[in-house]
Amino acid sequence: MKRLFVTMAIVIASVFATTTLSARELNVVPQPAYIDLEAEGEYVVTEKTRIIVVDEMWNPAQQFAQDMMPFFGSEKPMRTTKHGNKGIKVRTDRFVPEEGYEMTVSEEGVLIIGGTEKGVYYGLQTLRQIIVTNEGRVPYGYISDEPSFAYRGAHLDVSRHFFSVEDVKRYIDILAAHKLNRLHWHLTDDQGWRIEIKAYPELTELGSMRKETLIGHGLEPKWWDGEPYGGYYTQEEIRDVVAYAADRYITIIPEIEMPGHSQAALHALPWLGCQEQIVDVWTMWGVTPEVLCAGKETTYAFLEAVLKEVMELFPSELIHIGGDECPKDRWKECPHCQAMMQAQGLENEEQLQGYLVARIEKYLLENGRRMIGWDEILDGGVTDTATVMSWRGINAGIYAAERGNDVVMTPMTLCYLNFYQTESREGEGLQIGGHIPFEKIYAWDPYEGMSEDAKKHIIGVQCNMWSEYLKNMKWVELMLLPRLGAFSEVQWAVDRRDETTIRRKMESMRRFYEAYGWHCAPYYFDGRK
Ligand code: ACM
Ligand code: ZN
Repeated sequence: MKRLFVTMAIVIASVFATTTLSARELNVVPQPAYIDLEAEGEYVVTEKTRIIVVDEMWNPAQQFAQDMMPFFGSEKPMRTTKHGNKGIKVRTDRFVPEEGYEMTVSEEGVLIIGGTEKGVYYGLQTLRQIIVTNEGRVPYGYISDEPSFAYRGAHLDVSRHFFSVEDVKRYIDILAAHKLNRLHWHLTDDQGWRIEIKAYPELTELGSMRKETLIGHGLEPKWWDGEPYGGYYTQEEIRDVVAYAADRYITIIPEIEMPGHSQAALHALPWLGCQEQIVDVWTMWGVTPEVLCAGKETTYAFLEAVLKEVMELFPSELIHIGGDECPKDRWKECPHCQAMMQAQGLENEEQLQGYLVARIEKYLLENGRRMIGWDEILDGGVTDTATVMSWRGINAGIYAAERGNDVVMTPMTLCYLNFYQTESREGEGLQIGGHIPFEKIYAWDPYEGMSEDAKKHIIGVQCNMWSEYLKNMKWVELMLLPRLGAFSEVQWAVDRRDETTIRRKMESMRRFYEAYGWHCAPYYFDGRK
């Protein structure tokens, strides 16, 4: 009977998802699929409320209890127990979608039924927002919810500026509160190699430090700060962060850049280059001509050894191999690269990059993983099994999806959250450029220009945080919030966004961010864009 009720509720929910308006307001971001608040009354959650755990849902329950501590200002988390009737009860039901949940609130308390642990966790995130922004009062009613996209990502560049384990955990906390489930961790680039690799200790001993950093945008004459800068994560720290993310149902996708954006590796191991000359860890921003040699077998052996350790550290099925912005000047003059092209019957250097990427993908597939790369991986001819991250615009994503590749949409002009938020740039510090106000993200249709077939290959949407001008986590947060609110609605609630309620909901979210001490930019709330 209960099953039947749940199934009926899902059917009703999907029919009315976009048409029913609730009698009372509920400020939840991203927007749940269906809300019914017709019943009168509210259930008040206090630090004494018990969390009753059924079906071994201990982890989401304990995460929730921890997350409520700052709100209650308590020393101890709320009690989680197997027994009891009144309180917040969590369990699963296979009739609920994997990441979905149903929440019923009555005088008995709150019942959350997730499809899996993930759904329970997301239901508890919704409940947390209501409690924190509504003084613990949860209106009686019913919510059923599930995400629009399976892949809901945010990226973090830790090469241009380095962020401590504690900082990365803060970033993960913010993503989790918005129901994201992927962190794309950009661990290597020209300006610093940030992941310990046991087979090549030089990568972090030498490649994690740069002599100094460019000041400003590098217009002539250029100036540097004269301050050595560096940092890296030990493998133990990486494991700790991966586990922390997993506890919050976030998979970390590591990125090891190749064959471009590799000058820090070339500094550490000059034999990886075409000419094997000594280069510095780069002290500027942009695109350097110094790239890995694609002609020497030693380069492939290096990349496989690095990826082997990366796969041991990261359980993610997708492994990101970069692939973007690789100038081919060195390859054109390199006897090894030219010999490889001849041996493989390749017509040009683009195809040589295609060869390198395909060979690395084969290695990943042999090890049970799948490859994801920036959209330049299309330029040299891509396999059918690669996943493509469309960043230079939407056309690469459309092209890849039409040909049947899986795609993550992350076009620069909509998804680079290191871009300015206002036209005037007042108070925004020095940033890289661009202009992405909250409203622009909120209005974005990630399916624009796609056939029905292509749409099926859009596995998700991602925002990116490049850190050239983001020197600390406070700046990262100011760039992330409140825009992640808009972004999370594109990811979780693409079909149910509402321009008439989002501002009211974000005012509430601002209080939520404050409760956790997360830095949130004022511009959207001041009406500046
Ligand atoms: C990129 O912004 N180079 C992916
Ligand atoms: Zn070469």
